[in-house]
Amino acid sequence: MSVYGSFPEARPRRLRTTPALRRMVAETRLHPADLILPAFVREGIGEPVPISAMPGVVQHTRDTLRKAAVEARAAGVSGIMLFGVPEDGKKDAVGTAGTDPDGILQLAIRDVRAEVGDELVIMSDLCLDEYTDHGHCGVLDTEGRVDNDATLERYAEMAQVQADAGVHVVGPSGMMDGQVGVVREALDNIGREDVSILAYTAKYSSAFYGPFREAVGSSLRGDRKTYQQDPANARESLRELALDLEEGADMVMVKPAGPYLDVLAKIADAVDVPVAAYQISGEYAMVEAAAEKGWIDREKAVLETLTGIRRAGARMILTYWATEAAGLLRAQH
Ligand code: PBG
Repeated sequence: MSVYGSFPEARPRRLRTTPALRRMVAETRLHPADLILPAFVREGIGEPVPISAMPGVVQHTRDTLRKAAVEARAAGVSGIMLFGVPEDGKKDAVGTAGTDPDGILQLAIRDVRAEVGDELVIMSDLCLDEYTDHGHCGVLDTEGRVDNDATLERYAEMAQVQADAGVHVVGPSGMMDGQVGVVREALDNIGREDVSILAYTAKYSSAFYGPFREAVGSSLRGDRKTYQQDPANARESLRELALDLEEGADMVMVKPAGPYLDVLAKIADAVDVPVAAYQISGEYAMVEAAAEKGWIDREKAVLETLTGIRRAGARMILTYWATEAAGLLRAQH
């Protein structure tokens, strides 16, 4: 009995009484199929190379990548997003290795496709920064600026070699204007209307990409502020969204995830195509570092970050924890 008579009238705590009750009324559910595993494959290595800023994540050999794909599928993860890391000597000003039919990413797509067929959605990063010696996402003009339209021509070629290698979904991530339209046209021109585009629609110029630079051996000096979005802007992402949809995006993505949940929620409200969010390298590194120091409970923190991203409106989440988190989710129920 309440000391204040019938006060309080409403008691939301009732529905929090037991784990079963909380589970029943949960508004957001995380499922292994919500998760997509980003994975790095490096040319010319005999053993996987650990990425120091991302404990638990490696640059795969072609062999260990195949194994990672099989494990992801077995855990119930729905897709894998592949990044290729060419040998150092193969990086050049225009990112030639990115359009070489036998370039590392194309080989990896073929490997994974041969291993898991259609049982995992095979996706590829469509961007030049892994392949350029200057580390930018495009080719440079004579003044050293990233040349939008010259870069689009390179993206068109990349889309075609990735499609030839057997990818299901390409992910143009360079934030060049017109990239989705050009990629769509390039795919259609070779009769690959079946290949989907996951557009990096709202991609912010973020400090949290730091560990990724190590993951792909990027030599970037300077920043990407002339092409990636300013963290101060949310409305601008709606403009990027409208353009990507007009140009033929099948799915759209927000990146990073955690610091941009408002943008994610806005975009999820505005569209009827599937919305993805990319929990990036620095988001991963922060949790791992704090957990290693014993400052947070690692598994709880991992699932909480993923739940928050789903709650904000993401249908799918790219996360380096995909396989592990899928395992945790299966163990829970
Ligand atoms: C571009 C690309 C980047 C990431 C994914 N695709 C790097 C960048 O734009 O600077 C970052 C992913 C991460 O940090 O986990 N190729």
